[in-house]
Amino acid sequence: MSDNTDREPRSHYESGSYHQMVMGQRTVESHAVFFVPHLKEGMSLLDCGCGPGSITVGLARAVFPGPVVGIDIDESDVSKAEELARALGDQNAAFRRADVYSLPFADETFDAVFAHGVLEHLVEPVTALREMARVLKPGGLIGARSPDYGGHIYYPHDPLIDESLRLIEQVVGHNGGNRNIGRQLKASLMEAGIERVEASASYECSGSPDQTRLEGESMSLIFLESSFRDIVVEERWADAGRLDEISSAWKLWGERPDAFRASAWCEVVGWKS
Ligand SMILES: C[S@@+](CC[C@H](N)C(=O)[O-])C[C@H]1O[C@@H](n2cnc3c(N)ncnc32)[C@H](O)[C@@H]1O
Repeated sequence: MSDNTDREPRSHYESGSYHQMVMGQRTVESHAVFFVPHLKEGMSLLDCGCGPGSITVGLARAVFPGPVVGIDIDESDVSKAEELARALGDQNAAFRRADVYSLPFADETFDAVFAHGVLEHLVEPVTALREMARVLKPGGLIGARSPDYGGHIYYPHDPLIDESLRLIEQVVGHNGGNRNIGRQLKASLMEAGIERVEASASYECSGSPDQTRLEGESMSLIFLESSFRDIVVEERWADAGRLDEISSAWKLWGERPDAFRASAWCEVVGWKS
């Protein structure tokens, strides 16, 4: 098996402040409800692109005492996930650095394989899904969840925020990803060789003052990240001053008592024949 863990993940905010602020808040209860009913005690499970591991530890609880492995291309995420599992005393969760395109596991190792918020950042999502299916046992379960900007709504309207959403889409596209992959998840899984696939969708909402403030603050950070700014400025999609304005617009939006945002996430569960 080839080991190309140095392959660039090519994502616009990996390990940036936005990443740090948002990822660690995610849990099985808030982000993987569609997948958990299919899990059973004792199953072995692989979480691909586990980030700081906050979803992985919940998956580990769902299959306990089955072994769970979280992999991520980013070493610092792997360390954070290990720290979290240690702090929670989770005995059945382990983490290691690996590339989803080249998983360091034998064919047919796991009962379940999962990827949350990962496929939209990949240049070749179907190749990654094929690799995930390879390490899945026959009859095993594969689950994925990714956003689709086509189903995104927010209020109150602000042209700067509209522009910011277009910029995110452009930068993700520039890096080879697809912010509208959600609608294609079912087709992608089928293209990867999984015949039986069920798709669903859910909304992630910011409606309370705490949620909108966090959303405004975390979104405002994206436009201050040098990895994001460099691409936008280099491509002449906006200048640095405009990005500062956009960043402030998100912060102000998050402070508004009438602010509301909802983003569509698409979900798939597939069974390997
Ligand atoms: C948006 S984060 C999602 C993290 C976590 N699954 C969650 O939803 O909270 C995407 C993660 O995918 C990882 N990633 C990107 N490309 C990868 C690759 N080729 N192989 C493994 N992980 C990758 C990134 O390092 C990052 O931690």
